[in-house]
Amino acid sequence: ADGSVEIPVIVNVIYRTAAENVSDARIAEQIDVLNADYAGTNSDVSKIPTEFQGVKAGDVKVKFRLVNTIRKSTTKTEWRSTSTTTNKNMKRASTGGIDATNPTNYFNIWIVGTMPSPTGEILGYATFPESAGTWEDGVVLGSRFVGKTGASSPFNLGRTATHEVGHYLGLRHIWGDANCGDDLIADTPTQTTNNVGKPTYPLYNTCYGVKRSVMFMNYMDYSDDDTLYMFTAGQKTKMQSVVASSGARSGLRV
Ligand code: ARG
Ligand code: ZN
Ligand code: CA
Repeated sequence: ADGSVEIPVIVNVIYRTAAENVSDARIAEQIDVLNADYAGTNSDVSKIPTEFQGVKAGDVKVKFRLVNTIRKSTTKTEWRSTSTTTNKNMKRASTGGIDATNPTNYFNIWIVGTMPSPTGEILGYATFPESAGTWEDGVVLGSRFVGKTGASSPFNLGRTATHEVGHYLGLRHIWGDANCGDDLIADTPTQTTNNVGKPTYPLYNTCYGVKRSVMFMNYMDYSDDDTLYMFTAGQKTKMQSVVASSGARSGLRV
C-alpha cells in the first residue's frame, strides 16, 4: 500500500561447526537489521551529520521476509577465493553446497564458515542485478558476520548483509572501486578511496581539485558496522529501479 516491495528471502546455511550453524534467532535478528536499515528506522540514523540530512534516503521501501531456512552440514573447513574469482562452491549441491531456491523469485543468502582470500578474510559478497535468476544469484555471508548476538566485533551489527544487499540491488562501492572513482550515484560525494575502522566526522578528501566532506558512514563504504548508518536518496532511486516492474529484479515482487 505504501509502495514497498517485500523481498522473499531463502537462507541457506552450510556448516561444519556448531558456531557456523547460525541459529534461527540470529537469522531473524539479521532480517530485522535489514528491515530497519532499509526503512531508515535504525537507531543510529540520529548520527547522520546535518550536512547529509538533505540527501539521506529515509525509507528505501524495500522490505525483507524470511520464507525458509535450509541447513546442510559439510566437512569443508574453508571457502577460499582466488585473486580473480570468488568461491561459489556453496551455491551448488554438486560442489558441496545448496542449490539456490528459484533465484528469479527469491533472494537467496548462503551462510558459510571462513572465506579466506589473498587479501584477507572476506566478510561477504554479492551478485549484481545482471546475474538475476542465475544459479549463483544472491549473497554469501561469513557466519561470524551474520546478525548481532554472538557476531564478531567490529562487524557485529548486521551491516555486512546491509552492504551486500546494496550490491544485490545494484549499488556500487561509494568510492567507485578506483581512486576518486564514480559510483554512478549523483548525491554520494566522490571520495578518494574506501574507509576502514571508525573515521570521525568531519573527514575531508580532495578529488580533481574539489575538497569534499567524506560520507564514510554510507553503507557502501568499508567502515566498521557501528560507523555505517545511511543510504542516500540517489541510492534509493537506483535500488527501487532494480525491483520495479521494469527492473532486472522484478521477479522478486509478490
Ligand atoms: N568487503 C565486503 C564487500 O565488499 C563487505 C564489507 C562489509 N563491511 C562491513 N562493515 N560490514 O562486499
Ligand atoms: Zn562491497
Ligand atoms: Ca557519487
